[in-house]
Amino acid sequence: MSEKEHKVSRRQFLTYTLTGVGGFMAAGMLMPMARFALDPALKAGADSDLITVADLSELTEEPQLFPMTYTQDDAWYTSEVSENVFLMLNGDDVLALSPTCTHLGCQVAFGTNEDHPEQFYCPCHFGRFDKQGNNIQGTPPTRPLDAYEVVVEDGKVKLGSIYQRQGGA
Ligand code: FES
Repeated sequence: MSEKEHKVSRRQFLTYTLTGVGGFMAAGMLMPMARFALDPALKAGADSDLITVADLSELTEEPQLFPMTYTQDDAWYTSEVSENVFLMLNGDDVLALSPTCTHLGCQVAFGTNEDHPEQFYCPCHFGRFDKQGNNIQGTPPTRPLDAYEVVVEDGKVKLGSIYQRQGGA
């Protein structure tokens, strides 16, 4: 090969240099964005943590409200969340119901409506649910109260993920 064939012109040198520098800068900007976008998805098992809420001995067949506090990772933001949950004995099982009305999200209470003392009652639009959290036909909610997965271990009631129950009037 001749020496002439190996020569790099000033124009080629600048093109290679600017392309290389531009590529490094683009990678430097895109890598953090990609990491923030993918990081929560790569944290496996974050939702499977159980939260201890009560002793089994505290529960009765009447729904009672218990506080529940847990740490929530929302993308790259971690916060402490406090919620309430209705717990009750339901035969041999423990039922854990969300107090959030499935109509428009107000908080329900149990036994506060004098005409329906054995039901959950939502004061916002007069929604009602039976003792197992099933919505009462003819009231605004169209599906039952959401429930939590329940695990009883060593006399402690632990809650997992919340889920929508099937059914509805
Ligand atoms: S929000 Fe409960 S009935 Fe409307």
